[in-house]
Amino acid sequence: MKNYLKHHEWHIIEEGFDPRVHRISESLFSLGNGRMGQRANFEEHYSGEMHQGSYVAGVYYPDKTRVGWWKNGYPEYFAKVLNAPSWIGIHIAFGKQTLDLAKCKVTGFKRVLDMKQGLLHRVFTATFPDGKKVRVDARRFCSMADGEVGAIRYAITPLNFSGTATITLPVDADVVNKDSNYDEKFWNEVANEAKSGLAIVTAETKKTFFHVTTGMTYAVHTGGKRSKPASVKATKKEKYADNVITVKLGKEQETVVYKYAVVLSSENHAKPKMMAAAKKKLAAASAKGFEKLFAEHAAVWAHKWEECDITIEGDIAAQQGIRFNIFQLTQTYTGEDERLNIGPKGFTGEKYGGSTYWDTEAYCLPFYLGTADQSVARNLLVYRYKHLKRAIENARKLGFTEGAALYPMVTMNGEECHNEWEITFEEIHRNGAIAYAIFDYIRYTGDETYLSDHGLEVLIGISRFWSQRVNWSADKQKYVMLGVTGPNEYENNVNNNWYTNTIAAWTLDYTRYALDYVRKADESKFAKIIAKAKLTDAEPARWKDIIDKMYYPVDKGRGVFLQQDGFLDKELLTVHDLRPQDRPLNQKWSWDRILRSCFIKQADVLQGLYFFEERFDKETIKRNFDFYEPMTVHESSLSPCVHVILACKIGYEEKAYEMYLRTARLDLDDYNNDTEDGCHITSMAGTWVSVIKGFGGMTIHHGQLHFAPHLPKQWNGYSFRLEFRGRVIKVRVTKQGADVILESGEPLTVVVHGREVALRTIR
Ligand code: BGC
Repeated sequence: MKNYLKHHEWHIIEEGFDPRVHRISESLFSLGNGRMGQRANFEEHYSGEMHQGSYVAGVYYPDKTRVGWWKNGYPEYFAKVLNAPSWIGIHIAFGKQTLDLAKCKVTGFKRVLDMKQGLLHRVFTATFPDGKKVRVDARRFCSMADGEVGAIRYAITPLNFSGTATITLPVDADVVNKDSNYDEKFWNEVANEAKSGLAIVTAETKKTFFHVTTGMTYAVHTGGKRSKPASVKATKKEKYADNVITVKLGKEQETVVYKYAVVLSSENHAKPKMMAAAKKKLAAASAKGFEKLFAEHAAVWAHKWEECDITIEGDIAAQQGIRFNIFQLTQTYTGEDERLNIGPKGFTGEKYGGSTYWDTEAYCLPFYLGTADQSVARNLLVYRYKHLKRAIENARKLGFTEGAALYPMVTMNGEECHNEWEITFEEIHRNGAIAYAIFDYIRYTGDETYLSDHGLEVLIGISRFWSQRVNWSADKQKYVMLGVTGPNEYENNVNNNWYTNTIAAWTLDYTRYALDYVRKADESKFAKIIAKAKLTDAEPARWKDIIDKMYYPVDKGRGVFLQQDGFLDKELLTVHDLRPQDRPLNQKWSWDRILRSCFIKQADVLQGLYFFEERFDKETIKRNFDFYEPMTVHESSLSPCVHVILACKIGYEEKAYEMYLRTARLDLDDYNNDTEDGCHITSMAGTWVSVIKGFGGMTIHHGQLHFAPHLPKQWNGYSFRLEFRGRVIKVRVTKQGADVILESGEPLTVVVHGREVALRTIR
């Protein structure tokens, strides 16, 4: 755990330059706008330890899988999110001396991420080896008003000399991925152009043939007025174009370089027109200028915050944490483009390949249900509907038949593309999360039409998979499920993972309900779906048999569900038995040792108790929580949020608060020593859920919204807003009690602490 950032309600602040945490800061201070984004790399050249990363949504490369010994069923490739052409460079030199924070003496360094306005701001003073001193003030944003535009205001002031600076303003597509299986470069050049005031490159990804056009223009201002560089040289080479300008800098006089950039993707533009479209857009951006572009961008942020801010009074660390989570989530996925999804690292790093995981359904969906128009959550479900054919194909490759669908654990386009056989391949529980998301969406929105439009087909495919994946155990006289990995990835190839068996049987049950519902609601659609899926009467009958006779491992003595068969054979230690130097286990222990230990990476049985909480009484939840939580190392970011929700339910206030800080500040305080690879974007939705469903006690029963709010004793109050079935509801909790206010929409009756409350707007 680290603690080098200042606590502030709206800002992330780093004071003093410490190269040892630079890669962590590059992740934390990342910028994005749903279409593109980049790590907080410096504009000026930096020769120290860093991770260059710019990303364009939806652009990936299928890197051929590399394994020791190929086995049938391995996915052909592991998708890589691509480090895309970079537009942020502003390289400064005085003669032969380059401004490089790894080589200069740095004082007064301050890096601020203004989350309210989406601005990355950095100031520092650098002293060159020959004693020259310059002050720099750099501001950068990726426009939320136009996802293809970014801008930088880079101000430089010589403090003890006058001189000529050579400033290189590149667009660089000659970039490498840190994560690449064969150390190859993933971009080819299509076109590039460099002339005075313009540098532009169109690059194409190998194999996937995405085109990305990245262009830049600039303006120089001295003493507040536009000035002409003393000279301009436009150069280009393969995959690269720039302008090198020389500018006379006066002692103690601020010179500002404005750099405007556009990034266009062939996902949104016709390839032959991209160079022209980029030039037009660049001209428009520079005509508007930095201040106007920024005002438009900040206005979008103001609106976003109005929709989804959570306020926490009396605890700045907690407030900063939740805003950081909401900020990063909002930068990553805006919900406007149904082809896109939420990569676990967003635009902050390469790990997890930018692909879609079960994280979207299990953790992110509630955030978009609660903070955005219903269509955003629906789009996330439709994304999977569109991949149904491929899910059937994925299952077929593994030997399943008759339309059984296995959704991928990791995907870009519906195909499985993970690179870890034992862990990811056997995590078939993700199929359950995709079914659960349909239920979750309908439970929240009441939009049952989704079942006949798309949902039922998906449920049939998934149910067929479960039905073929279980087998009858003559010994147990039950259906069992062998060779799986549950959500706790620190166990592989186990039998009868309680969570997986539970969600499988639940899916079968829900599919039977959905069949019945659509049959009654829309006979002709029902007939079409049945004909398309070729569903026989025998199938739902078999599903019923599986539901009735599914095997669930339990420990009757302790009154707990067992994570899997044989769990009790383990040496049952607790996290307190671990030495600090053993943590995180995944960096310190051999995999063999991890697998034999009882230590749990993330909520597993508890994940099931969270999903199906209405089935379990408090005592059951408590017994399981008391048994599993002490063994849980939370080395998946997705773990603590589930623990907050359950801890709130069973009245473990201190634990809930501890887990809240852990989920909300996971990256800010680098709990798992891995933030340098990027931020944990999908678990940030879990943080939001932990406030709404944990402290706010929000649940839905029979279409009715329930709250059971309580206030952690460390807080003076908190508030959040929810979109719910065309209404906006505000919940404000203080030491005096909870107010639930209908801000807009039709009257509604909600239940607060078990009592019905009729809400209407104040006119
Ligand atoms: C977690 C998985 C998750 C993946 C991507 C892993 O560390 O264990 O549950 O899907 O990260 O976030």
